[in-house]
Amino acid sequence: MQKIVVAPSILAADFSRLGDEIHRVEAAGADWIHCDIMDGHFVDNISFGPEIVRIVRGLTNLPLDVHLMIEHADRYVPRFVKAGANSITIHVEPEAKHDVAKTLQQIRESDCRAGLTLNPETAFDLIEPYLHKIDILLIMTVHPGFGGQPFRADQMHKVRRARSLNDKIDIEVDGGINAKTAKLSIQNGANVLVAGTSIFRSNDYAKTIRELRGE
Ligand code: DX5
Ligand code: ZN
Repeated sequence: MQKIVVAPSILAADFSRLGDEIHRVEAAGADWIHCDIMDGHFVDNISFGPEIVRIVRGLTNLPLDVHLMIEHADRYVPRFVKAGANSITIHVEPEAKHDVAKTLQQIRESDCRAGLTLNPETAFDLIEPYLHKIDILLIMTVHPGFGGQPFRADQMHKVRRARSLNDKIDIEVDGGINAKTAKLSIQNGANVLVAGTSIFRSNDYAKTIRELRGE
């Protein structure tokens, strides 16, 4: 059984005091910081870009887990690498408009961990060919674009399938993760929990993170 990794998504943080928020989740036991990058094209929202990632890099030594919900990820990978990303996850859907195999290779050559993800509507078959060429598989448990959406338990079959095919890989879940849905995800084989709302909207970050781990 892999160690459970908790990765707060700063999308739900209070950006007027981002430094304080990062320090608070770090002190509360966060393992990675999840950065959600949205371009208004691949998803219907715009979040932030490499400059904010660079600022976050200056605030913490925790690994920065960058989730690119953007078109043409290959154009931007070098900028996120330079900004200090430790892992970069890209989307497999054709709408992301890039050559998935090439972008994964580009990420690896940059000494970053390579992640691949798929939307709830996307068939598992699309990511299966890459399963032994990536470090992280991210199973979206909401349609990406916005924090605070309800968890989709109907995605757990993908987690189970991935875990049955590769027991070494990090399997991450993202969207609607709280103590209850974290437990279900872990039972199905996930070991990395992304959580925005449940952590940053709670009064006690340390308690919430412990509960996510099932402690
Ligand atoms: C979804 C993002 C998630 C999101 C999770 O578009 O990829 O990382 O911020 O947010 P919560 O935990 O609020 O569902
Ligand atoms: Zn994300």
